[in-house]
Amino acid sequence: MSTATRYKHLIAEIKKHDALYHTQDAPEISDADYDALRRELNKIEAEHPELVATDSPNKTVGSKGKSGFKKIKHAIPMLSLGNVFSDEELDDFLAKVARFLNRGEPFDVLAEQKIDGLSLSLRYENGKLIYAATRGDGMEGEDVTANVKTIDEIPQSLKGNAPKVAEIRGEVYMTKQAFAALNKAQEEADKPVFANPRNAAAGSLRQLDSKITAQRALKFYGYALGELSESVADTQQGIRDKIESWGFQVPEPHVVSSDRDSLLKFYQRIQEGRSKLAYDIDGLVYKVNDLDLQERLGFVSRAPRWAVAHKFPAEAAITRLNDIQIQVGRTGALTPVAILEPVNVGGVMVARATLHNEDEIDRLGVRIGDMITIQRAGDVIPQVLGYLKDKRPAGARPFKYPHTCPVCGSNAIREEGEVVRRCTGGLICAAQAVERLRHFVSRRAMDIDGLGEKIIQEFWDDGSVRSPADLFRLEEKQKGSLTPLNKREGWGDQSVRNLFDAIDARRNIELDRFIYALGIRQVGEATAKKLASHYGSFDALQKAMIAAKDESSEAFADLLNINDVGPSVADDLIGFFNEDHNIALLKDLRRYVTVQEFEAPDVGDSPVAGKTVVFTGALNISRDEAKAQAERLGAKVAGSVSSKTDYVIAGEDAGSKLKKAQELGVKVLSETEWLALIG
Ligand code: IVH
Repeated sequence: MSTATRYKHLIAEIKKHDALYHTQDAPEISDADYDALRRELNKIEAEHPELVATDSPNKTVGSKGKSGFKKIKHAIPMLSLGNVFSDEELDDFLAKVARFLNRGEPFDVLAEQKIDGLSLSLRYENGKLIYAATRGDGMEGEDVTANVKTIDEIPQSLKGNAPKVAEIRGEVYMTKQAFAALNKAQEEADKPVFANPRNAAAGSLRQLDSKITAQRALKFYGYALGELSESVADTQQGIRDKIESWGFQVPEPHVVSSDRDSLLKFYQRIQEGRSKLAYDIDGLVYKVNDLDLQERLGFVSRAPRWAVAHKFPAEAAITRLNDIQIQVGRTGALTPVAILEPVNVGGVMVARATLHNEDEIDRLGVRIGDMITIQRAGDVIPQVLGYLKDKRPAGARPFKYPHTCPVCGSNAIREEGEVVRRCTGGLICAAQAVERLRHFVSRRAMDIDGLGEKIIQEFWDDGSVRSPADLFRLEEKQKGSLTPLNKREGWGDQSVRNLFDAIDARRNIELDRFIYALGIRQVGEATAKKLASHYGSFDALQKAMIAAKDESSEAFADLLNINDVGPSVADDLIGFFNEDHNIALLKDLRRYVTVQEFEAPDVGDSPVAGKTVVFTGALNISRDEAKAQAERLGAKVAGSVSSKTDYVIAGEDAGSKLKKAQELGVKVLSETEWLALIG
């Protein structure tokens, strides 16, 4: 891979993990892995400034919050911190501060725990809590005031005499004990469990219903100030004291010292006691103590120059790689798993580690039989770091990555630009089936009530439901040899009847719901609707997808002409409809389910209902808004001009599409004419 490609790849990966972490509260990799990606990115940016992209994650902080909460713009941005991972890197940090301040004499540094929660800004006016906002993208966060008011450790009014305006910043967290209890309750209620206390805290704080937040034991540590109407301290220590005097908890213990050895001793001490703490920490934060110096140091891009996080290292060990197994995830992603000679890593026996994907195996160059280094960070899956070159045994054999799914035997394909290989088996692949079945019955898909994750899994395990069609055979089969449903725990006759009724009610289904329910990759509700309106019936869609296998066919061109269907979505659609298993599955399913023909939404007497329009050139409103408006009025928006196009709306600097319209004699409208037409 070239550096440029690797760089682009890193940006995409980091963005993906940012979204998983910040928006979905569901990270897939450890903080240490994430930091490694960021470090690799930073290294490339430092060595190849010409490659630095405008959308580099270094130019943004965190990510925008998910909808549902009002946005609040921070009076003072909430930035993040740079990291150091070793004593040497701490020395570099201190030297840089000294150099920046042009200072020979020592300066005090305050060190305290880095709490692994999520940061919050609390605004108090005249001592009263006005609002609470999450960090969001650093500039603008989410208004979580109602939820924060349920947290006991956050005072509604500041104690003592407070300034007119004071913003207190700190970390919301959940204790390890509360986290374990919450997950236990989630499990019992058949609800998803949280990966770690941080995610549990984030998920709890971002509940739209503050009654739920109130039931979650959230706590808060204050450690910094935002906007202030008057100065309240000269040092970071003074800030801590103030925050405490206003009625908050602050992380303890802490030290102030100008001596790097003392700072490192403190680091050592905290690290050793880390596992006994009631809450998770992921390192220390060092802050220059003198606020005048802090002000002089200021900020650089996304972090202050006057503070740095000293992260705890991941724990490593050496062991033998006995085998590599391929795991198939719920979305069909193939993941290589290293099967290890069990080894003790920081007090935990480890027998498996992740190898991420096939490129990673190539990059590491590991072979089965090699002695490898593995590392474990916190509570996440250990990972393989590399192998010992001089210990490679004679019989070490390279691993051949499979191109078929080890679970169902279907082709496993890797799309261009993707790192993962995926099984194309879809609903017939056992690994994917349960999750797919869940999707199939979910509210926005087939909408079959009463089929939660647990019951689907049960049906799968006992063999009563192995495919969507089985759901519709369930009642009939019940009369045969299967354990009657009402003998199952928690099922009475009435709940069984309700389930069968809910299934029966969906024997006749709207086309777009049916398409969405199939769980074809990249085909969400919006795309399903577009396909439904474009093809009109399921038979027409299926026929077109089989014809579109030939990329020179009209069916292929027609598919790509649907707004939002790019080559990659087209690939997934064609792949799905041409896979033998899926053809059989659809045939079976449609014996029980009648798929309605698509009914165009009632758009009254819209002058453009059913018309195909193409937008080109620069318009006054955004292209997305123009499309949405046309679609609301029942028009189809296409990406290219053909003889089927009714109108081309040409903005400024329209080029080839305008020319084509003129050649074909398609009616061309200016933006003003278009707006007049649609009223
Ligand atoms: S001071 C300008 N102190 O760590 C930023 N931050 O990874 C000053 N954090 O965004 C932050 N414990 O959310 C500070 N004792 C502590 C902290 C702490 C946790 C968080 C904070 C920050 C993130 C950076």
